[in-house]
Amino acid sequence: MIIRNNRKPGGLAAAGITLGLMLGACGSSDPVGSTGQPPLPGLGPSRCGDVQTRPWCDTRLSPAERTALLLGEMTLSQKLSLLGGDNIVAAATGDPYVGISEGIPELGIPDLRMSDGPVGVRGSPATAFPTPLALASSFNPELARRTGKAVANEVRHKGNDLLHAPVLDIMRNPLAGRTFETYGEDPYLAERLGVAWIQGAQTEGIMANVKHYAMNTQEGQIGLPPITSLIGGRQLVNHVIDERTLREMHLAPFEAAIHEADVASFMCAYGFVNGAAACGSHFLLQQVLRDEWGFDGFVVSDYVLAVKDTVMSLNNGTEIEMPLGMFYTPLLLQTAVLTGLVSMETVDTRVGNILRTLFRFGFFDRADYVRNDDLVDVEGHAAVARETAEQGAVLLRNNGVLPLDAAALRKIAVIGSSAVERPSGGGSSAVVPLRFVPPRDALAARAASAETLYADGSDAAAAAALAATADVAIVFVADKASEGVDKTCLSLDCPALPLSVLVPGLPELGGKPQDALIRAVAATNPNTVVVLQVAGPVLTPWRDQVAAILVAWYPGQEAGDALAHVLFGDTDAGGRLPLSFPKAEVDTPTAGNPLRYPGVANQAFYTEGIFTGYRWYDEQQVEPAFPFGYGLSYTQFAYEGLQLEARRGQLLASLTVRNTGSRAGWATPQLYLGLPSPSESVPQPQRVLKGFSRHWLAPGASARASFILDQRAFSYWHVSAGGWKIADGCYAIQAGAHSRDLPLRATASWTQGTLRVGACS
Ligand code: BGC
Repeated sequence: MIIRNNRKPGGLAAAGITLGLMLGACGSSDPVGSTGQPPLPGLGPSRCGDVQTRPWCDTRLSPAERTALLLGEMTLSQKLSLLGGDNIVAAATGDPYVGISEGIPELGIPDLRMSDGPVGVRGSPATAFPTPLALASSFNPELARRTGKAVANEVRHKGNDLLHAPVLDIMRNPLAGRTFETYGEDPYLAERLGVAWIQGAQTEGIMANVKHYAMNTQEGQIGLPPITSLIGGRQLVNHVIDERTLREMHLAPFEAAIHEADVASFMCAYGFVNGAAACGSHFLLQQVLRDEWGFDGFVVSDYVLAVKDTVMSLNNGTEIEMPLGMFYTPLLLQTAVLTGLVSMETVDTRVGNILRTLFRFGFFDRADYVRNDDLVDVEGHAAVARETAEQGAVLLRNNGVLPLDAAALRKIAVIGSSAVERPSGGGSSAVVPLRFVPPRDALAARAASAETLYADGSDAAAAAALAATADVAIVFVADKASEGVDKTCLSLDCPALPLSVLVPGLPELGGKPQDALIRAVAATNPNTVVVLQVAGPVLTPWRDQVAAILVAWYPGQEAGDALAHVLFGDTDAGGRLPLSFPKAEVDTPTAGNPLRYPGVANQAFYTEGIFTGYRWYDEQQVEPAFPFGYGLSYTQFAYEGLQLEARRGQLLASLTVRNTGSRAGWATPQLYLGLPSPSESVPQPQRVLKGFSRHWLAPGASARASFILDQRAFSYWHVSAGGWKIADGCYAIQAGAHSRDLPLRATASWTQGTLRVGACS
């Protein structure tokens, strides 16, 4: 069965959202509706002007009508002036904005100010949130919504209108320098988190600019972070990828950002996709984005050299070149029009897309957002950051040493410089925190009756000797990552990034023998707890020699309190892995194959197809060190009572999750689908994530988790038909704790467009 009609707003888009989360997400005091309703009172007078002389300022007209009126008044050079950014200096500092597209005062068009980013506002001090990987580990869209709203609120109070976030690229290669900015390796998880984040952000009257469309999956090797790399560098690399993999693995979250979150704008990526620059690709920008998905917002280029050709980008769909018109200079634009390579109609379309979106978001009809840091709810946002760090901390191993009992401890050894420094990613996601309590200090405060000893870990023998005297040793280790360059290996002992001293704000954490430090400490103290503050998966060759492992990612400014809460059991360890941790680097999908990564002659071939992340490990029958979706709790859960019902072509699945332990904790039931392969050329993974939910359960308590699988959830991309198709056959529904612990099993079948629940083979 071919599904011609792609997702539409309010249509079948809710595949797998749990009912509980949908209910939990409602309600807010939003100044501007994300549908672009005129601003509510409190946002100041309109900056558009007098309706008599400027009829496009009439808010009773639709955005399209207002756009037509305004376009009719504009000269060609006025139109072209809106297509290029106007400040390259800002891109380096990010403060007070990372870019600006100047308006036209004589027509009442205000300046458009833009800010980064996914981890918090870049530039001046702002709430430093945990990295998006931590948010992804929370498996909690409601928390993503609050994070998006908090970041956008700060963006607004710094005087900006548009926010370059979230990142919806999928992690294909764990070495990728921007892994920390993503939501991990699964498109469904990225989609659910991304949609909620954008919805939250846009309720603040800020336009979200989802990025990077498409395929910013690698930064390259031998680089100068945060700018560029020589081999497979992000500005140079051509991603050679089959259409099914592209659609199913990499484009799906972007599609949801339009159909479910009505996102205002897209940032087109630096690289090439199947030979066409992402910022000049007819396939990506016109055929898919506009013709198929019906996007009616505008496209902003990534910064410096993402646009590679004036005519291609203008004709195919990039509206604004940032941070400066380099290919969109007045001269090059005028020439393109005067030579007839770009039509006036195309110019009107590009400018119209910008103006219509601005009208839709009430941009003309309010006062400037004025910079005023005092209006930021510093404590409220810190609470969201802390909650994310707690819910995103993933407990990988625990022999019972955690949670720590403050009353029973006499001496705690805290080891590692990252217990006092703040590891964070480099590049446009680096945030100057409003405050920072180091984990060492927060742990000492939490266990005030114990003595807290500290060693920076530079001398493993000294650290081990200190650990030998303590009841528990907590070893903090960290890696280093930045946009502009990929890691050279996954080991914690990996050398520091080349030239990384040039990355602002990155402490020198790489290049130290951290594996040896962990081993040395574990050898003298059986209660050794390892806290990983990392950008993505790392190798854990010592995992069986330590008592506990907690992945904190880069936990942000509230790291100290959040980690103290988790380690001492004031809350549960709430996170589940949004990506697989491999046992060895050779196990990863792109390892050992330079054609795949970093590519040869700047061509990276996606020959692994749809087998990214856990799909790869399952297919290869390789056991990861810790699988996708995995994460321990301080309590235990049982899963039972899987029920299925087919209703109007949708599958309603529900199950009961019960807390069988003696502490309250976070249950995160997950539902996966095994799809039949219609032919050899369409292989299917053993399972793919299609639903999850989140429940705080007291001891003995249970919850019913419900999931809706719509027709899209059962579909694959049929290349020759050019659409989503459901294969006839048997579908395996698998549910439980994580991708490799799915005790609940059932089947359903599709036959010529009819879904049936029950046994099949
Ligand atoms: C990054 C973008 C970022 C922009 C502005 C670029 O280098 O790729 O993600 O939004 O800079 O800082």
